[in-house]
Amino acid sequence: MSKHTVSAPANIAFIKYWGATDIERALPLNSSISMTLDQCVTLCTAELTSGPKRRDEIWLAEADGRLTPAGPDFARRVLAHIERLRRWAGREESVRIATRNTFPAAAGLASSASGFAALTLAVTGAFGLAPSPGELSLLARRSGSGSACRSVFGGYVEWRAGEMAEEKSHAVQVADADHWDLRDVIAVVEIGPKTVSSLDGHRRAPTSPYYDRRRELLGERLDRVRGAIRDRDLAALGPVLEEEAIDLHLIAMSSRPPIFYWSPGTVDVLRSVRELRQEGLEAWATMDAGANVHVICDPDSEEEVAERLGDLAAVGFVIRDGVGDGPETEMQALF
Ligand code: DP6
Repeated sequence: MSKHTVSAPANIAFIKYWGATDIERALPLNSSISMTLDQCVTLCTAELTSGPKRRDEIWLAEADGRLTPAGPDFARRVLAHIERLRRWAGREESVRIATRNTFPAAAGLASSASGFAALTLAVTGAFGLAPSPGELSLLARRSGSGSACRSVFGGYVEWRAGEMAEEKSHAVQVADADHWDLRDVIAVVEIGPKTVSSLDGHRRAPTSPYYDRRRELLGERLDRVRGAIRDRDLAALGPVLEEEAIDLHLIAMSSRPPIFYWSPGTVDVLRSVRELRQEGLEAWATMDAGANVHVICDPDSEEEVAERLGDLAAVGFVIRDGVGDGPETEMQALF
């Protein structure tokens, strides 16, 4: 039976997707721009199985090769997406899936983005189909994890909002990874699932009094990020990164009911990043919907940034990552 294995990376948003016109289908209220990561990836194997009745299987692959059953919430979302892909492809077969992250799941490190991008690529690959990158991005978006549509591409990626019809809303690559070698030192201050999902965050976002103000500021912010990527200008990118991250959390904290993603360690890392800058290093912080902090810097600063953040009592460990080339087909299957 046909088996296909892929890896798909996480991404870190410079301009965040936060708020949707249609949450189930992930139609964003605002455009977002991200950098695709290199080391933080989801591996996924999909195999077509036949039998008297349709019976999909979802497994988590452990590092030692054992397969354990996926938890019910995750399995439900994965099954729904497999069914969506099957309908899209006009196919009947059942699918066996195994998946493994190379980084802690559900810690605000975009495990859904890499996970649903990988699932989309593995299942369409097992069907023997080769959709265009735009189509793959659109299919990944329909998983409900909107940021997954950006993980289909490497380098720097934009997902435009606006008057976009549902069947047109997908991401595009704005520059490849070779264009600009940026690093992302992730200071992990909390492991474990976040208490409020991004989906609930999107839902609550418009209840914040600061929501409309951020939208007014976004046009100019998007232009600054596009220009900074074009010119490889970290001094121009950095301040927008921090403004965006703070605004995302400001909106979360002032939503009704409020959402606090930060932990005390988040503040310690933010302080330390400011100190590093006072010492002359170009290092800038951003966070997704979680407590962990991504510190964007250039390759020359990476070592020092990782060492200093790793020494903080609040930081469990750091992950050293950087811009990556995007999904790949893997030779080694997970089962
Ligand atoms: C804060 O609805 O894509 O990361 O499914 O949890 O990955 P997940 O979330 P999604 O919202 C992403 C929210 C964000 C910002 C971003 O990545 O743009």
